[in-house]
Amino acid sequence: MQEKNKNVLLNEDLIQKGAKFLMHTYSRMDIVFCKAEMQYLWDVEGKKYTDFTSGYGCLNVGHSNPAVIKTLQEQINKIIQPSNIFYNIPQVELAEKLCHISGFGEKVFFSNSGAEAVEGAIKLARKYSTDKYGKRRYEIITFNNSFHGRTLGALAATAQAKKQNMFEPLLSGFKYADINDIGSVKKQIDDNTCAVIIELIQGEGGINVCKKEFIRELKKICEDNELLLIIDEIQTGFSRTGSIFAYQQYDIVPDIVVVAKSLGGGMPIGAIISTDKICSVFTPGTHGSTFGGNAASCSAGIAVIKYMLDNDLAGRAEKLGKYLASRLNILKSKYDIVLEIRGLGLMLAIEFKKPIASELMKNALENGLVLNKLSETTIRFLPSLVINEKDIDILINFLDRYIKGEIKNER
Ligand SMILES: Cc1ncc(COP(=O)(O)O)c(C=O)c1O
Repeated sequence: MQEKNKNVLLNEDLIQKGAKFLMHTYSRMDIVFCKAEMQYLWDVEGKKYTDFTSGYGCLNVGHSNPAVIKTLQEQINKIIQPSNIFYNIPQVELAEKLCHISGFGEKVFFSNSGAEAVEGAIKLARKYSTDKYGKRRYEIITFNNSFHGRTLGALAATAQAKKQNMFEPLLSGFKYADINDIGSVKKQIDDNTCAVIIELIQGEGGINVCKKEFIRELKKICEDNELLLIIDEIQTGFSRTGSIFAYQQYDIVPDIVVVAKSLGGGMPIGAIISTDKICSVFTPGTHGSTFGGNAASCSAGIAVIKYMLDNDLAGRAEKLGKYLASRLNILKSKYDIVLEIRGLGLMLAIEFKKPIASELMKNALENGLVLNKLSETTIRFLPSLVINEKDIDILINFLDRYIKGEIKNER
């Protein structure tokens, strides 16, 4: 038998240790990545992969983007974590930039993650509403198949029974409606309703796209009933869908926006963006986060926004998203097993008629492609926005051969 090389042993050893010492909250694949450059990853055995997940949509600007690394390195040599009772330069600068690119924001609160931003937005909406209209007005409408995070408030907003029911009792005050069904929203509104929170494209829930007409009607209903419209741009934000924020394609102005994931270019950060009027209820002592807005993460955010604008990542997402969608649609027309292609920009999904996603993902990895399944019939594509047509061609060629059965022997 051939002697195993050092890197293979390192891989096996690490995987064994990982299985022993890490909680088993994820179904991890037996691969250890140790190097990354833009849209590419390398495992400890030196094998190269093209990443069509970008770390669950966190790397719109690519893995270890040199511009982010440079800014981050300069910042950590100066100061990383001044406390929030003082000002720090990157935090103020990033808040100003976020307000500017949002087109409506006047104030920002920084958190460390998406779920934490959602929690803060729930508190902000509740306090604004109860201060203004009285104690009972605290209920929030969210949508079936949404995903807003794993902490208890965000989980209550996440209308997916399979994620919620082992953690009951949930935080009370949430009612659920269906996207693209305005009647289902109207049914849930009463004197206790204070806000609506929605993803314009449900990411984790299946890449389900909200229709423009539905969102315009939703905005009108919110205005008529004085409800705050909270848009969750944690997955759709920072050019993913072909505009800096997805709501900019829906011609609406939100009241509150939550962001995270790609804002940090790989560093943990989240943010709530809103108006002076709404944020006036967050007075000293009402909300906080020790690490939120630390100088290192904020400096990465500044570099991400600069890179995104300088390189027109929104334009790239639109153009390459159309290219990927058109190539996927050719597969749909060729193969009966493909049910649907859906999404916007570089946030796309392929839906199969049969449960082949796990096997497909495994084979993709063997062929140097990192894919992500949302269910046994759905594969989601969330690549870095720096991918190119050649990367897409390689993916499509793999999918074509896999569906045709040419890669059977590797299964
Ligand atoms: C739309 C949306 N909201 C919230 C979250 C939660 O973000 P985090 O995992 O950073 O807590 C996610 C994560 O996937 C998400 O996609």
